Amino acid sequence: MSEIVRFSVSVEDDLLDQFDRFCKEEKFATRSEAVRQLIRDKLTRQAWETGSHEVAGTLTLVYDHHRTQLRDQLMDLQHDNTDLIISVLHAHLAHDLCLEVIVLRGPAKRLQNIAARLRGLKGIFKGELVMASAEGG
Ligand code: NI
Repeated sequence: MSEIVRFSVSVEDDLLDQFDRFCKEEKFATRSEAVRQLIRDKLTRQAWETGSHEVAGTLTLVYDHHRTQLRDQLMDLQHDNTDLIISVLHAHLAHDLCLEVIVLRGPAKRLQNIAARLRGLKGIFKGELVMASAEGG
């Protein structure tokens, strides 16, 4: 059994008010209980997101298709990662705006990496990766 350690945290008063409302709504017995759970959730999630286990996911991108360089970069990155990319859906949203949903499958950390590279291209307005476990059980 781990030893319990006390530590103090400095926080803005309005943030603490919000946190106390959160604790009340979520029925946490104490602030410590809430903080413990939030830390555990975050660490578990971080370990899951950067691990080597198999995940599936979608990367949604919204971008300006008048930027020909961006279009080429998007295409090149996708062609260089065909082992990760299962499918792509493209919708023309407006005269110069495109939406692309890229379906991916592979090790979590590789998905994070390709998503970060695609999302980071100049001219991308929005990029969001959603991942789910692709392993049974
Ligand atoms: Ni388009």
